[in-house]
Amino acid sequence: MSDHEYTPKSKVGKWFNDRLPLLTLANHLTDYPTPKNLNYWWTFGGILTFCLITQIITGIVLGMHYVAHADLAFQSVEHIMRDVNYGWLIRYVHANGASMFFLAVYIHIFRSLYYGSYKSPREVIWIIGMLIYFLMMATAFMGYVLPWGQMSFWGATVITNLFSAIPLVGESITNWLWGGYSVDNPTLTRFFSLHYLFPFLILGLVVLHIWALHVPGNNNPIGIDIKKPSKDTVPFHPYIVIKDAFALLIFLLIFAFFVFFSPNILGHADNYIEANPLVTPAHIVPEWYLLPFYAILRSVPDKLLGVIAMFAAIFVLVILPWLDTSKVRSTVFRPIYKQFYWFLVADVLILGYVGAMPAEGLYLLIARVATAYYFAHFLIILPFLGFKEKTTPIPLSITEPVLGGSADLAMARNNSGLKEKL
Ligand code: HEM
Repeated sequence: MSDHEYTPKSKVGKWFNDRLPLLTLANHLTDYPTPKNLNYWWTFGGILTFCLITQIITGIVLGMHYVAHADLAFQSVEHIMRDVNYGWLIRYVHANGASMFFLAVYIHIFRSLYYGSYKSPREVIWIIGMLIYFLMMATAFMGYVLPWGQMSFWGATVITNLFSAIPLVGESITNWLWGGYSVDNPTLTRFFSLHYLFPFLILGLVVLHIWALHVPGNNNPIGIDIKKPSKDTVPFHPYIVIKDAFALLIFLLIFAFFVFFSPNILGHADNYIEANPLVTPAHIVPEWYLLPFYAILRSVPDKLLGVIAMFAAIFVLVILPWLDTSKVRSTVFRPIYKQFYWFLVADVLILGYVGAMPAEGLYLLIARVATAYYFAHFLIILPFLGFKEKTTPIPLSITEPVLGGSADLAMARNNSGLKEKL
């Protein structure tokens, strides 16, 4: 049933819906025609929504007991762990939840890269996604400062100091960010305030993200445009709902493993030492999900250029829809690009690894090569390949290759006009 025909069955429902068409919206969401060949990589959008809501709920409860003051923050976290009912659970879900959120978002982003979901007409979905990703990184960075451990303090010092590299106004900006002349209590309180605010901004952006998705509809593994609704689609409910729920359960098993069996494995031991401005830790490292950017930052010998390279690494992703010149969306039909895609995955993993190592000797050399390759992928390989690559034949519908044998056969049938007779 399309949105236009929808009328609530009950009188009360009709009365309400005429004034605020929430039921029409709910009907649109459950009936929403979804490509029937979506694989499990498409379940991560739902998983991400779950992660965001979990972070918000556990964060609100933590905020009831946490004290945002440089003298009390560390103790208040220990108080949550020991005295608050199930405080340990809420904190471990929140801390590991951040990691799971990033794991899911990286899978979601690399899914989009593989299947060309960022290409026309889905550029706005992609750009809103990048905004979300940027805010996620800022939120996670500020959240990590709140327990006021050694890594919190020194991580905040290193990252905020980057702004001092900006010519002329850098120092003033850094002091303004700190609310003083070093990372201290005013820094902690503003980070707490913003760490509480940003998830709600992300929530608003997620609503826009999904709205923008519902305009063109989902991309799909073979990346072709389809008619909606048609033989190529199924309604969102119950088909996608049940598949998303199943994937979420598997995801929760992995999540629960970390929370109950290895709750501190993803954190740094130094963060169980209270912040001490007089003792610098041997290695200052961010959380794992920021490591590739940290590696890019440190691979450039000049501080300002390093900061520019780090932001540029995100910016090339923002303009990706215009850097990729290939008309073919899915990597499935792009044999050469497919190899470069996996090189990129390896490159980002290598960057993450060297980001955790000291920036010297062989590690530094690897970081430099991997940084150069990262930019080469987006600025040289991708635009060039779009013109040069010979793609393999693309089926004209989702259903035909399945019912009509191979993709080639489906194409042949289509061209000879047999399609209508099937
Ligand atoms: C809080 C974070 C996010 C949430 C809750 C979220 C949610 C969703 C949902 C529910 C979908 C539809 C289902 C699916 O394709 O998996 C989707 C699609 C999409 N997302 Fe996200 N997303 C988030 C972050 C991002 C990020 C960071 C990016 C990329 C920078 C991104 C890019 C996309 C794209 C391109 C699609 C369209 C995929 C398609 O049409 O097949 N999303 N998102």
